[in-house]
Amino acid sequence: RNPMESNLSNQAIILEDGKPVLKDIEDTPLAEGEIRIRVEASPMNPSDQLWLAGLYGIKELIPKKTLGAGFEGSGVVTEAHESVGADIVGKTVAFFDDCHNEGFQGVWRKYINKKASDVIQFPEHVKSDEVFGVFVNPLTVVLIVNTAKKNGNKALIHGAASSSLGKILVRYAKHVDFPVINIVRRQEQADSLKELGAEHILDSSSDTFDDDLAELSKELGATAYFDPIAGAFCGRVLAKMPAKSTAYVYGALSGEPVSLSPIDIIFYQKSITYLYLATWFMEASKEEQDEAFGEVIKDLSTGGKIFGTKIYKTFSLDKVVEACEEAAKTASLGKVIINPQL
Ligand SMILES: NC(=O)c1ccc[n+]([C@@H]2O[C@H](COP(=O)([O-])OP(=O)(O)OC[C@H]3O[C@@H](n4cnc5c(N)ncnc54)[C@H](OP(=O)(O)O)[C@@H]3O)[C@@H](O)[C@H]2O)c1
Repeated sequence: RNPMESNLSNQAIILEDGKPVLKDIEDTPLAEGEIRIRVEASPMNPSDQLWLAGLYGIKELIPKKTLGAGFEGSGVVTEAHESVGADIVGKTVAFFDDCHNEGFQGVWRKYINKKASDVIQFPEHVKSDEVFGVFVNPLTVVLIVNTAKKNGNKALIHGAASSSLGKILVRYAKHVDFPVINIVRRQEQADSLKELGAEHILDSSSDTFDDDLAELSKELGATAYFDPIAGAFCGRVLAKMPAKSTAYVYGALSGEPVSLSPIDIIFYQKSITYLYLATWFMEASKEEQDEAFGEVIKDLSTGGKIFGTKIYKTFSLDKVVEACEEAAKTASLGKVIINPQL
């Protein structure tokens, strides 16, 4: 226990009438099995942007008293309950807070109490700004590739491929040798993916995009499209894919409902379904979860060549609204993160 740190007051982002406000809050004493963590980094993901807009999650399952924000992050353990070994104090850990859980408080706070068994511990040399995003994007990338493989696809198509998740997917798919057609919407996005070693990149602003997509998806046998954009673009991509292709909508970047031609549905048996990490968490076996986590943690403990995420800009806790606006504009350049210690 570091008495200096435990005397510090705590502060957290609280949603008041849907607006994020920084408030002084009371520290809760550590319960059995718990540790206190100094939160040092948390990403501003599109899911956080949806949360701040009041649009994220399964409404019926979100506890009524939920008032916080921030789903995942990293930090350093400052204190441990006597029931937990003191060895953990000083370690860098990553953690997640599920907004569907009764105890959700959000990680956008200076200090957070967590069960020691619920956090991921990293070796001494790993710093918080290397492991702020262990759960949401890396595990979704593993899930995307596993879903494509499990359903017998020979290749997959990915939209908004210069997202942080898209960059991890480029590296992971290369690592496991699974072909990906990366769709971007600007030339500089294509250039940045090329630098990462992406083989197949299509720019949707090009005049030949639709024909190129038809040709390449046929050639590679790409019958699964992982779509974080939705809107009309989903049907446009599916229209050019082989018969019986499926789009897995997993994000809402366009903010628009998906559309798909009834001709494609009836005569070419094309379909749209979903992919959601939270349902995977609920349904996957312990072995499947351990395997996915194992891959991610091993890589992030040794430099994060596959699952690491570049930081574009860091904001303090009182600048959450500005961070949210910045993330919407600059996502292709790297992740906007919140550092509550600033
Ligand atoms: N279902 C799940 O379980 C799950 C889990 C994790 C992540 N996700 C989703 O995965 C997606 C990517 O997450 P991330 O953290 O990697 O995002 P990110 O780093 O914020 O990147 C977003 C990317 O999308 C592009 N983009 C934004 N609006 C677009 C549009 N209308 N059309 C085409 N491209 C657009 C941006 O490029 P510009 O610079 O061109 O705007 C940027 O490259 C998000 O939709 C997120 O919600 C879902």
